[in-house]
Amino acid sequence: MAGRIPRSFIDELMTRIDIVDLIDSYVSLRKIGRNYTACCPFHTEKTPSFTVSQEKQFYYCFGCGAHGSAIGFLMEHARLNFLEAVHELASRAGMAVVYEQGTAPTSIAAFDDLYQIMAEAAQYYRQQLRQSQTAINYLKKRGLTGEIARDYGLGYAPPGWDNLLKTLGTNSDMRARLLKTGLIKQNESGHRYDRFRDRIMFPILDQRGRVIAFGGRKLSESEHEPKYLNSPETPLFQKGNELYGWYSARKTRPLQNIIVVEGYMDVIALAQFGISNAIATLGTATSIKHLNRLFRNVPEIIFCFDGDEAGKKAAWRALEIALPLLQEGRQIRFIFLPQGNDPDNLVRREGAQSFNNHLARATPLSKFLFNTLTQQVDMASLDGRARLVELAKPLLKPLPIGPYRDLMLQKLSELSGVNFNHLTRLIQGEIPKQTTVKRTIRKTIESTRELSLVDQAIIYLLHKPALSLKIEQHYHEQLSKLNKPNIKLLLKIIELSKENPHLKLGALCEHWRGTEYEQTINYLATPDFIEKQINIDDEFFGAINLLYKDYVVQRNAFLMQKSPNLTAVEKQELQSLYKYHGAKQ
Ligand code: UTP
Ligand code: MN
Repeated sequence: MAGRIPRSFIDELMTRIDIVDLIDSYVSLRKIGRNYTACCPFHTEKTPSFTVSQEKQFYYCFGCGAHGSAIGFLMEHARLNFLEAVHELASRAGMAVVYEQGTAPTSIAAFDDLYQIMAEAAQYYRQQLRQSQTAINYLKKRGLTGEIARDYGLGYAPPGWDNLLKTLGTNSDMRARLLKTGLIKQNESGHRYDRFRDRIMFPILDQRGRVIAFGGRKLSESEHEPKYLNSPETPLFQKGNELYGWYSARKTRPLQNIIVVEGYMDVIALAQFGISNAIATLGTATSIKHLNRLFRNVPEIIFCFDGDEAGKKAAWRALEIALPLLQEGRQIRFIFLPQGNDPDNLVRREGAQSFNNHLARATPLSKFLFNTLTQQVDMASLDGRARLVELAKPLLKPLPIGPYRDLMLQKLSELSGVNFNHLTRLIQGEIPKQTTVKRTIRKTIESTRELSLVDQAIIYLLHKPALSLKIEQHYHEQLSKLNKPNIKLLLKIIELSKENPHLKLGALCEHWRGTEYEQTINYLATPDFIEKQINIDDEFFGAINLLYKDYVVQRNAFLMQKSPNLTAVEKQELQSLYKYHGAKQ
């Protein structure tokens, strides 16, 4: 049984890390005023409402209400469990995680260890490539230079069931890491073996250039094996998030657009011919997450598809996903290559110039959309043109309000002969909801005043923990006799932040994770409550004073009721309460 991590360690960890650094390594943040913002990684949006406060070490989305500390972010966004998140942060901060019983649970391999073993595996595969004439010949046959193979870190997993396992899995700890990163598999009877065998290995890098997964292409012509095999989802790798070639493409200067192709070999072949801004999704369809990430960095995305039916279908799916993101200044175009071609064989056969011509002639999304629709109806007939409007309606509806949307409506008006204003009304009637997410955290309560005094005090304190230093000890003792919901929590927060004034909002929330207070704190922590221009100090001490009055009344009533049997101390207390009463009234 593994020991628990002491709260004091979490407190310390929270003061050593910076939530801005952490979140910025997942979504690129922009500084606006005192805070940092980005489009929210937890819901789809076009204008940033996701805010990270360095001062409070807390993130919050004004759109969907997602909020929390650095640990919370790793749990929600990177889908780590609590212990994994703590380990990841500790390793970033250069701290060793402390356990109460002194032992770390073996199931937690720190993230550093996982990155480390991925780097070692990549190195092993590269070294195997140098030693395999068969693999080298295969790459040569496909036209790759040694230089490009090196740039992309290509390697080779030799045939056989346990080459990697034997080389890197030298002890049980290493074997556990190999399993966790998906490099080795385990069958029902517990037998372990290499996932990648007799394959060319493509390392997949994260935004920071660390190896987080592999793709492997089979060498043999065996029908039984899939042509490409990818790492499974692991703590380091979530397919829907990652893009192959993104780390290299991002370094292209100037980076005006990104070309989205289908395969590893397409990315590499284009790069070999000097077209270094291509990326590929990893055997999944393009997701809104991918597009959001790309649009954060470039104004234009060019999709490259095979010109056959399947290619057209895939392009249409990409179009549908992209529509809600098409605000002014963003553009999407499509290239349809001659049937049966992919960028890899095309660029090798016809050269970079020919591919660049394709790029220059790429079809804008609007043209692709209207061409496809007009082909489905009889444009010569009135019925056909009415049908065109019907078909276009659900597609134009999700477009963000703005000039781009107007131009699309203009085009539809020209084609259908339906008056522009009429079309606008027709589709405007169904304006997309600007925020479609459930506001789970958003309050039904409109103002802080509707909350209890205790809750108000907690809110102000969470957002400005330094206030606790001004609460004198005797107030603290007396308030602890007040009988009100959450009063214990209020006093605990005061106590903790007096002891440790470095704890910010994020850390305070973490401190009570897993306790009876977790929910209350989480609820009260949202900055929604204090958006208005208020003087937090005044509000806080105002609430405390009112609570003190309540205490006086409550305590007075209690002592009076007990009256004939009061102890000497209680008598004295009653006296001082009278004094207070007298002074206040
Ligand atoms: P393709 O089958 O078009 O392969 O798959 P390709 O890129 O032209 O490969 P070569 O030229 O034959 O080597 C395109 C992409 O789809 C994913 C891979 O990411 C691949 O790069 N894929 C394909 C898989 O994940 N598994 C497969 O079995 C096949
Ligand atoms: Mn190919």
